[in-house]
Amino acid sequence: MNPNSLVAINDLSREDILALLDRTRYFEGHPNSHLLDGKIVATLFFEPSTRTRLSFETAVNRLGGRVIGFSDAATSSTSKGETLKDTIKMVSNYADLIVMRHFIEGAAEYATSVTQTPIVNAGDGANQHPSQTMLDLYSILKTQGKLEGLTITMVGDLKYGRTVHSLVTAMRFFKPVFYFVCDDELAMPEQYLQLCRDNGIEFHVQREFDQDVINKSDIIYMTRVQRERFKDPEAYERVKDCYTLRADMIMNAKDNMRILHPLPRVNEIAEDVDDTDKAYYFEQARNGVYARQAIITRALGIDPLKQ
Ligand code: CP
Repeated sequence: MNPNSLVAINDLSREDILALLDRTRYFEGHPNSHLLDGKIVATLFFEPSTRTRLSFETAVNRLGGRVIGFSDAATSSTSKGETLKDTIKMVSNYADLIVMRHFIEGAAEYATSVTQTPIVNAGDGANQHPSQTMLDLYSILKTQGKLEGLTITMVGDLKYGRTVHSLVTAMRFFKPVFYFVCDDELAMPEQYLQLCRDNGIEFHVQREFDQDVINKSDIIYMTRVQRERFKDPEAYERVKDCYTLRADMIMNAKDNMRILHPLPRVNEIAEDVDDTDKAYYFEQARNGVYARQAIITRALGIDPLKQ
C-alpha cells in the first residue's frame, strides 16, 4: 500500500487532520497554481456523484493537473467483466493518483493492495467517505472557530450514511457531545457507538427531532436516507421521510448554529431553510474543492508551502 493513500479517516492522526485543515485554508486563499503540472489524476466512479467527482476534478484542474477517468462504470470495461483488480492495475499505468468511488465496502482498501499508486477513497458503500469528512471538519472549523467541545446533532440515516461514520470517527479527537437522531431502522452502527464509549465521548440516541435538541446544537448534520443501500424497497418507503428540517424549527436555535448536509438532499431540508443564516450546505460543498486540493497534494507528496 502506498502510505500516501487515504482510504479511511482513521488513516489520519489528529496532527494529520489539523495539518490537512491548515492546507485546506491555504488553498482557499490560493486555489489556482501549477503544483500539479505534468500530473494525471484518474477519477473512477462506479457509483453516481455530482459533488465529489466534480470537486476532485475542479481541484486537479485548478492545480494545473489533468484528469482521466469515468463517471459511469457502464462505459468502462467493467461492463465486459473486467475485475476491479485489473481495472486498478491498468489505470495505475496511466495515472499518478487514483480517486475512486465504489459500491462495495472495502473496495478502496482492496485497491491499495494491488497497486503502489496512491488511492483516495471517494466513498465505498455504506462504509467511509474520508474526503467528505475533511470538508465537513473544515466547514465546522470555519463556522464555529474551533473543533473542540461542540454539540453535534446527526439526523436521518445513520446506518447507511458513510459521511456520518467518517465524521464520528474523526471527531473522536475533539471531545464533542453527539445527539444521534434516527429511526430504529436507521440507527448508528454499534461499532461507532463503541468508538464513542472507548474515547469517552458523550452521546445520546433518540427518535425525537424536537426544539430541545435543535436549540442546544452547534451543528445540525442532516443526511439523506440512502435508498440505494436498501434491499427491501418497502423498508425504504417506511423511513424515507422520517425527518424534515423546516425554517420554523430553527427560530430559537443558537446564533452560531449551522446546518450541514453532505448533499444531495431529497426531503430532509425544506427549501425555506436555504434563505436563513443557518444554512451552510452550499458553502460546505464549495469547501470540498479546497479540502480535496489538500488531500490530492498530500497524496502526491507535494507541499504547497515548499514550492
Ligand atoms: N456528498 C457527496 O458525496 O455527494 P455526491 O454523491 O454528489 O458526490
